[in-house]
Amino acid sequence: MNINDLQYQSGFRNHFASEALPGALPKGQNSPQRCPYGLYAEQLTGSAFTASRHQNLRSWLYRIRPSVAQSAYRPLSQGQVATAPPLEPAADPNQMRWDPLPIPEDPTDFVDGLLTVAVNGDAGAQAGCGVHLYTCNQDMHRRFFYNADGELLIVPQLGALRLRTELGELHVANGEIAVIPRGLKFQVRLGRGADAARGYICENYGSPLELPGLGPIGANGLANPRDFLSPEAAYEDLSGDFELVAKFSGRFWASHLDHSPLDVVAWHGNYAPYKYDLAKFNTINTVSFDHPDPSIFTVLTSPSNTPGMANVDFVIFPPRWMVAENTFRPPYFHRNLMSEFMGLIHGEYDAKAEGFLPGGASLHNCMSPHGPDADTFERATHAELTPQYQGDTLAFMFESRYVFQPTPTALEADFRQRDYVDVWAGLRSHFDPSMP
Ligand SMILES: [Fe+2]
Repeated sequence: MNINDLQYQSGFRNHFASEALPGALPKGQNSPQRCPYGLYAEQLTGSAFTASRHQNLRSWLYRIRPSVAQSAYRPLSQGQVATAPPLEPAADPNQMRWDPLPIPEDPTDFVDGLLTVAVNGDAGAQAGCGVHLYTCNQDMHRRFFYNADGELLIVPQLGALRLRTELGELHVANGEIAVIPRGLKFQVRLGRGADAARGYICENYGSPLELPGLGPIGANGLANPRDFLSPEAAYEDLSGDFELVAKFSGRFWASHLDHSPLDVVAWHGNYAPYKYDLAKFNTINTVSFDHPDPSIFTVLTSPSNTPGMANVDFVIFPPRWMVAENTFRPPYFHRNLMSEFMGLIHGEYDAKAEGFLPGGASLHNCMSPHGPDADTFERATHAELTPQYQGDTLAFMFESRYVFQPTPTALEADFRQRDYVDVWAGLRSHFDPSMP
């Protein structure tokens, strides 16, 4: 399929129906005695069969061969990919920051270019998440991937990606995100105009990401369901030697097929990959004073079993007007129960004067203090508080109730900023008991 022809279906977890050949979807039932075009029917579930109706996720796939037509799985090297719980827990209260992961010089595809920064929770218990960086300069060639440990929230920072999935193709660029459901087979190619790509991934072991409740905000605002796009069915009927890489229980496995697994001619259901343009986020913020908590910027949330405490939230800091009066406008100093991994998609982040770069990352674990650096504090406490548009910025946060355990790879990386904590060294006392 030519990416210029890509068409999407709109809605969040709608019950989509799509066919690449007319009449390929069985009419009025899921698994007829004989499917149209001689296809096989296969169900893919993203929830227990017995999940409540609004949490029940499943799609029916009508494909040229069923997924069982593959060789046995054999262990495969997994490079720099880690899964929770780590063999040697390395939780560390120190605030950490990293420069952007360098683009590899050797030919590297999306799977080979994965590097885990931190993990939390326990993948086997379906709690917590893994935080990965990806870099690639090659298409996945005759190679496909699926992840049994979690869904993948992909946040491109550099270069666009073509995500060719069983259910069709998504094209995502800087400023957009994509979510690949747990178990869905896909292939990553470099997108239009990209000779390399880099970005962030949240591998969500827990409950699938959903839209947050809006409470007193009302029916509209934040991310609106119609702006989420899922692919139309697309298939290829190819023979040859193809490798299917699976991430299962923290390890990589490989199976071989004599055909492309992207052979789904039609599908219907609500378990589907999707993309979202972060520019469509309807940002809500103060129009009076003070800095609301950043939960007001939640795009997607994976709830945990404790109401109000997310397994992981995906939060963005988008372009916005700053109009608060008599207010310290950058993010306030804080110590939080929740643990925070941050990245920068483009532009500048308003809590840091320098050092937090697009493609870089920071980690502030449970109760570790953080906030604006000394330069930002000085500037913000003396700024003239006219309405200001902060246009060149797009940062994000993966925020979780579980403490992040950095991987040894991330702790020892040469792109880690070992002097990060010094950004707060210049915060001096302004206290004067004679000046109320
Ligand atoms: Fe924070």
